[in-house]
Amino acid sequence: MIEINKDKCTVCGICVDACTTNTLQQTETEILQIKPESCGLCGHCAAICPTNAITASEKSRLQFVAKKIDSENSEVEKLLLTKRSERNFKNEQVEKKLLEKIIYFAEKAPSSSNKRQREYVIVTDKSKIKELEWTVISKFNSLNFLTGSFVTGLVNFFSKKTGKMLKNLRKDVDEMNEYFEQKKYKIFRNASAVIFYIAPTKAVQSKDDCVIAQQYSMLFAQSKSIGSCVIGYAQYAHKALEKKLNIEKGKTIFAVSTFGFPKNKLKNEIKYKNEIKITWLN
Ligand SMILES: Cc1cc2nc3c(=O)[nH]c(=O)nc-3n(C[C@H](O)[C@H](O)[C@H](O)COP(=O)(O)O)c2cc1C
Repeated sequence: MIEINKDKCTVCGICVDACTTNTLQQTETEILQIKPESCGLCGHCAAICPTNAITASEKSRLQFVAKKIDSENSEVEKLLLTKRSERNFKNEQVEKKLLEKIIYFAEKAPSSSNKRQREYVIVTDKSKIKELEWTVISKFNSLNFLTGSFVTGLVNFFSKKTGKMLKNLRKDVDEMNEYFEQKKYKIFRNASAVIFYIAPTKAVQSKDDCVIAQQYSMLFAQSKSIGSCVIGYAQYAHKALEKKLNIEKGKTIFAVSTFGFPKNKLKNEIKYKNEIKITWLN
């Protein structure tokens, strides 16, 4: 999945710490990718590597190189180039005032017909976050009948692609449970705060309203050196989460993000080599 140039690699090991899927291992003499099939190709290892030793393998589904961020870039360009999905948080709380400011800027996002019907739940209590983590995992556990060998085998017979998807889902769910037992949290990743973006269930563009506010909040947070990540996994369990968070009837959680101070600073831009498809109608 990724390739490590042994001539450039100094075996400093910071890529191992930055790896979000635990696929890297450090030995005395080299860095090994031990579970390439679990690699999400997020490129955080390459973005943090001080000697630019990591690239994506030519055989992988995405190709990228790490590129130093040019100091000539404007502040906005730098912000967009450094905004990555953060999953490695320090054990340091983001203070309430800053979280309030994050929401202030989330609300600067447009909303359909300027209805401004969004609302937010911010959870900072660690034990509550852990409880919500288990709520999400339980939702995935309830799908176990779908990912069992009987159904997977049957589905595989008709569609190899869907069969593979179910198998991968089972692997993911097993990992979530395994991590939870080890007090490592794969959903909310020990974040300092989790923000739920809520809007009326029946308004046609509620999801758009929430996702735009989510992106504004995450970019503002980045400008204050606070990392964040979209948590799509939690979206699957939105009904169970609404119950746990006592969300009013008629309202839905349309987006979820984690926030916290990053453990590592990703210095490089990840430049994807894949062609960006643009159609010009001039
Ligand atoms: C709709 C959506 C859902 C996502 N869900 C998750 C998630 O549940 N957990 C997670 O760690 N990352 C999640 N991500 C982050 C992506 O995995 C991430 O964007 C991708 O790995 C690229 O990394 P980057 O954002 O650092 O460039 C999600 C991103 C999007 C857009």
